[in-house]
Amino acid sequence: MKRRYAEIAGWGMYVPPRVMPNDTFVTMGLDTSDEWIFSRTGIERRRVVEADEATSDMATKAAVQAMAVAGLHSGDIDLIVVATCTPDHVMPATASIVQDRLGMLNAGAMDLNAACSGFVYALATSAAQVESGRAKNVLVIGADELSIYLNWQDRSTCVLFGDGAGAVVLRQAKEPGIMGSTMGSDGSGAGLLTIKGASRVRASSNGTPGGSANGHEKATNGAAAAADENYLTMNGPQIFRWATQIMPRAAEQVMASSGLKPEDISLFIPHQANERIMKATAKRLGLPPEKVFSNVREYGNTSAASIPIALCEALSTGRVDVGDYVVLSSFGAGLSWAALALRWSVPIPSHVAPWRPIQRQVASRMAAVRSVLRRGERSVRTRIDKTLGKGED
Ligand code: UT7
Repeated sequence: MKRRYAEIAGWGMYVPPRVMPNDTFVTMGLDTSDEWIFSRTGIERRRVVEADEATSDMATKAAVQAMAVAGLHSGDIDLIVVATCTPDHVMPATASIVQDRLGMLNAGAMDLNAACSGFVYALATSAAQVESGRAKNVLVIGADELSIYLNWQDRSTCVLFGDGAGAVVLRQAKEPGIMGSTMGSDGSGAGLLTIKGASRVRASSNGTPGGSANGHEKATNGAAAAADENYLTMNGPQIFRWATQIMPRAAEQVMASSGLKPEDISLFIPHQANERIMKATAKRLGLPPEKVFSNVREYGNTSAASIPIALCEALSTGRVDVGDYVVLSSFGAGLSWAALALRWSVPIPSHVAPWRPIQRQVASRMAAVRSVLRRGERSVRTRIDKTLGKGED
C-alpha cells in the first residue's frame, strides 16, 4: 500500500488589536522598566484581548485565514484540534465552538492542553491522523489568552505574556511534508509553571464571572478569579535553565530521526518565550542567527499560539520557500516539550484570490444560519420533551 504523508496547505494568524508596550507597566506603577524587560527578554510590546474576546474568537479568526489559503470548504475538514491552556470553558471544548462557528459539520473537535508546547503536540498528533488515513484534512490551531490569568502586580510574570492565535490546515500528500516529531513530558517539574484550579473557583462563585486580572469583566473567561492561587505562577530562572537544555535536545532528536543536519535547516522556529533562550538554543544547535525566526519583540510569549504565529510571519516575510527544511521546537508547563521537522511543500501565495473573501463570507453566513436552525430545532425538541415530561436524549 502506498504511504501517505501530511503537509501544511493553509495557514493563518490573529492577534488582538490592543497593543501594550513595556512602558504601560511603568505607568501602572510596577517597579520595572522598558530597559529591563527588553534586555532580559527581547520583548517590546504584546497584544492583549478585550473583555469580550475569548480564545475561540481568536482561534476562529486564524482558522478562517488558514482555510482560505488552503482553498478548502468547511465540509472538507475531518478534525479540528485546538491547542490551548486557556479554553473558553472547562467544557465544551473550544474546538467545538470553532467547529460550530465555521460550520464544519463533518469534523470531530477536541482541545489539547500541553501549554506552550501545545501547537507542536497538536501538529504531530494531527499529522499521524492524516498519515494513517483516518483523516484527510485537519485544522490545527494554537490559541491562548494568558493575559486573563496574569497577576498584573507580579512583575516577574506579567511582562512576559501576550494573546493570540495561529492555525494551519494539514492535508494528505504524496511526499513527506511533516517529516518527524518528538514529544516529551516531565511532570516532576509541574509546580514550576502553573495556573491552578480556576474551574473550582468559578463553580464556587455560583457561575458569576469573576473580574479579570487586567481589570475588566470577562463574559466568557471570567474564571481567572481574584484568588491569588488562580494566577499564573512561575519559577522563571529554573524554567530558563531547563528550556536552554530541552529545546536544543528536542530539536536535535527530531533532526536525527528525520535525517537532517544543522546545515540542512533553512529556518528554525523556536517557542517565542525569551530572546535569550532562543539565542542559547541556536548556539547549541550550531545555527547562525539568520536561520532562527524571532518575533517575541512584537508579541511576547503567546503560549500555544507562539509557533504558528511565527510560522505565518516567516511565510509572509519570505523566510520559507518550497523545498526548505524547517524545524519547530517548543517547551512549556507540564513540563512539556515537542519538536517537529518539516519540508515546506506548497507554494506561498503572495495574495489570496479576490473572490475568496466573498466565498468565505457566504460560507460563514451559511454556517451561522445552520447553527441558528440547529439551535432552534434543539430548543423546540426540549420544549416538546418538557411538555411530554421527558429529559433530552
Ligand atoms: O513558555 C514558557 C514560559 N516561561 C519562560 O519562558 C520563562 C523563562 N524564564 C525567563 O525568561 C527569565 O527567567 C525571566 C525573564 C522570567 C527572568 O529573567 P532572569 O534574568 O532570570 O531574572 P531573575 O528572575 O533572576 O531576576 C533578576 C532580578 C531580580 O531582582 P534581585 O532579586 O536580583 O534584586 C528580580 O526580582 O530582576 C528582578 N526582576 C525584575 N526587575 C525589573 C524580575 N522581573 C523584573 C521586572 N522588572 N519585570
